Amino acid sequence: MAKNLTFFLALLSFLLPAASQQDGFSYSGFSGGGANSSNISLNGVAEIEHSGILRLTNETSRLLGHAFYPDRLQFKNATDGAAFSFSTAFAFAAVPEYATLGGHGLAFVIAPSKELEGALPSQYLGLLNASDVGNFSNHVFAVEFDTVQDFEFGDINDNHVGIDINNLASNASAAVAYFGYDGKKNELNLKGGHTIQAWVDYDGVGKVLNVTVSPFSSKPPRPLLSFPVDLSPILHLQMFVGFSASTGLLSSTHYLLGWNFKMNGIAQSLDLSSLPSLPQPQKKDHTFVIAVSATSVAVLIAVIVAAVYLFYKIKNADIIEPWELECGPHRFSYGELKRATKGFRDRELLGFGGFGKVYKGTLPDSRAEVAVKRVSHESRQGIREFVAEIGSIGQLRHRNLVQLQGWCRRRGDLLLVYDYMPNGSLDKFLFLDSENQPSNSLLSWDQRFRILRGVASALLYLHEEWEHVVIHRDVKASNILLDADMNGRLGDFGLAKLYEHGANPSTTRVVGTLGYLAPELTRTGRPTSSSDVFAFGAVVLEVVCGRRPIEPRAMPEELVLVDWVWELWSSGRWTDVVDPRLGGYYVREEVKVAIKVGLMCSHPAAPLRPSMREVARYLNGGKGEEVPDPPSPPVDFEGMSPVGFDAFVPSYPSSSFDKLSACSITSGRDVPVSAGSGKVGPLVYSTPHFRASHV
Ligand SMILES: Nc1ncnc2c1ncn2[C@@H]1O[C@H](COP(=O)(O)OP(=O)(O)OP(=O)(O)O)[C@@H](O)[C@H]1O
Ligand SMILES: *[C@@H]1O[C@H](CO)[C@@H](O)[C@H](O)[C@H]1NC(C)=O
Ligand SMILES: *[C@@H]1O[C@H](CO)[C@@H](O)[C@H](O)[C@H]1NC(C)=O
Ligand SMILES: *[C@@H]1O[C@H](CO)[C@@H](O)[C@H](O)[C@H]1NC(C)=O
Ligand SMILES: *[C@@H]1O[C@H](CO)[C@@H](O)[C@H](O)[C@H]1NC(C)=O
Ligand SMILES: *[C@@H]1O[C@H](CO)[C@@H](O)[C@H](O)[C@H]1NC(C)=O
Ligand SMILES: *[C@@H]1O[C@H](CO)[C@@H](O)[C@H](O)[C@H]1NC(C)=O
Ligand SMILES: *[C@@H]1O[C@H](CO)[C@@H](O)[C@H](O)[C@H]1NC(C)=O
Ligand SMILES: *[C@@H]1O[C@H](CO)[C@@H](O)[C@H](O)[C@H]1NC(C)=O
Repeated sequence: MAKNLTFFLALLSFLLPAASQQDGFSYSGFSGGGANSSNISLNGVAEIEHSGILRLTNETSRLLGHAFYPDRLQFKNATDGAAFSFSTAFAFAAVPEYATLGGHGLAFVIAPSKELEGALPSQYLGLLNASDVGNFSNHVFAVEFDTVQDFEFGDINDNHVGIDINNLASNASAAVAYFGYDGKKNELNLKGGHTIQAWVDYDGVGKVLNVTVSPFSSKPPRPLLSFPVDLSPILHLQMFVGFSASTGLLSSTHYLLGWNFKMNGIAQSLDLSSLPSLPQPQKKDHTFVIAVSATSVAVLIAVIVAAVYLFYKIKNADIIEPWELECGPHRFSYGELKRATKGFRDRELLGFGGFGKVYKGTLPDSRAEVAVKRVSHESRQGIREFVAEIGSIGQLRHRNLVQLQGWCRRRGDLLLVYDYMPNGSLDKFLFLDSENQPSNSLLSWDQRFRILRGVASALLYLHEEWEHVVIHRDVKASNILLDADMNGRLGDFGLAKLYEHGANPSTTRVVGTLGYLAPELTRTGRPTSSSDVFAFGAVVLEVVCGRRPIEPRAMPEELVLVDWVWELWSSGRWTDVVDPRLGGYYVREEVKVAIKVGLMCSHPAAPLRPSMREVARYLNGGKGEEVPDPPSPPVDFEGMSPVGFDAFVPSYPSSSFDKLSACSITSGRDVPVSAGSGKVGPLVYSTPHFRASHV
């Protein structure tokens, strides 16, 4: 009994100090506004958005925002006054008002007060002011993420991390970068508008402060900055810890998405994919204000407007033809979609593609979020046939397809209603270089591989698992959308058919995008499951390499992605093709499988490409699965082409694109290619060729 009691007391004394001493905390998002946001203290313009993101500044000039943990933390040993070790990991993003011009920066701060009274925005980052900068009685310690080069404080560039002690002239600084496991240093852009994770680790015994950044969830093997410093004289016994951000003449919206902190221990890294998503950028509203003084004029205008409105309404009434009623329950009324998209206003625009504009909408009744694609088409015949097939397209269901909810027809327009995919399309994540919308973060290898597996299973479903063979015809990165969990979902199935009904019946247009077009397709004009496989191969290589299938700005030998990958693969240097932004964070075996699959699928000879069933098996293969080496392409692409290209038709691969380049290499948009008018049969999208019919 006594023994039990002493054991219990020992256990208690072991547990108690840990429980009573606040030694760490964790925020994964800052839980949407209202009462629950009260456990972080904000001042300046800082606010918590509904999504749970903490916004420190917006795009207005000369603002500052602070966010601090509400209670003081003990930073030093009360007995000997030595600063404790601490460790923190946080995720932030700076979304600049003008794509490449940031303003001004964000800092992790340890300070004696939460308000930082008298602090200034702009180059002072909301930390200090002109009269107290450099004064050792400030007791302010900060790690700055600065996007403007201030000569006053000797900044090294407009994209740096600095360690600041009572001053904005940094004691140590470095251009923002992260080390990969391969030892390479990769540059990182603070103004890229995507989420960046940073770690600040202080070793109170060795008296070294490390700062590390990365676009990923896992911590790089080496810090960016490692600075010997004793924080004991700088910190008080108890201090507040938090963040400050400011804007200057130029401005960025600064967001904080998550924050872990641990005293005398190692803070856990944040899983970036489980944090709230960054808001989509809002397009600027152009509002026209019309002031009319005389009431008589106002009345006159009202009458005219009413008349025009009535006339318009009658003229544009939905046309319902008898055959449309047979297609099942999916028909939406135009008014409903108009309300859902707030009158198709520009602010709701998600993007546009070869078929028309895509708007975000919220259905008035169910409040469900949808994407409404507005397709304009001159040929009524095309729309009619397409709508006739919507009934069957609507039956396609797979977790990696973007579900079609319905349609609406109105004069020359066809409106297609799809499930809304909050993370947009894959291309926007792969190519962060262009002025694309900000994405939450660079895609990690895990995410990339999962997307490829998902899309492969969707294509397998279309080709072999549904009752008819469905050829997608337009597989490409911009048609792969990402749902809330970053699963890849194939969109636009069946749509390509619309375009194939050219005005002139003697020519059939081949639909597809340069770089994804199988060579035989331009000759026969007949899409097959094998031409889908070819396009999928292009997507696989794109995802592995983070490059477009045809990169007009690349060196000539790197212009055509598949050629380049082939070359490096055959010389055994395949690791050189992997997206350098992954910084070596990938699973070698998986990448190797993906490259093999990408090359196999991209084979110029259709019969040598694998089927989607094989592709899916390779990608999902366990360790035992042997993925064969890709068959080499013909040595002489011009002469020995196994599918017998004629002179007009582009052959595989390098020469193929030169001929087409004149029309659209730079735009990267769809190229209608006239195919020989010979024996091209009707291009029916769900011809019931039965299962085994593909090669
Ligand atoms: N269901 C959806 N949810 C969210 N965003 C979408 C959805 N569908 C499309 N989008 C957005 O709209 C953009 C345009 O889509 P769209 O499919 O029209 O163009 P595309 O794929 O680039 O070209 P194409 O018309 O040749 O297929 C996409 O890149 C994507 O960002
Ligand atoms: C803030 O409050 C939420 C909910 O009350 C809680 O889950 C979270 O741990 C708190 N965070 C901190 C840092 O105290
Ligand atoms: C705060 O959050 C907790 C759980 O996170 C929830 O149970 C509670 O209802 C919330 N309170 C308010 C006022 O929103
Ligand atoms: C930014 O915040 C300030 C203060 O809250 C506000 O006055 C201003 O209108 C905001 N600007 C924008 C562009 O939202
Ligand atoms: C504080 O310092 C004293 C003397 O160096 C040491 O005995 C004690 O363990 C330290 N306390 C903590 C919590 O580190
Ligand atoms: C600068 O900040 C200090 C507090 O750190 C404050 O006392 C002082 O008044 C400020 N000076 C100016 C000019 O605002
Ligand atoms: C530093 O600040 C303290 C208190 O604010 C002030 O008394 C002192 O004069 C300042 N030192 C300098 C060099 O400005
Ligand atoms: C930091 O820089 C200031 C000068 O700007 C210098 O006085 C101070 O000693 C430096 N601190 C450390 C720890 O190097
Ligand atoms: C800081 O980085 C160095 C390597 O540069 C490493 O040896 C050390 O353990 C790191 N310290 C902390 C506290 O992370």
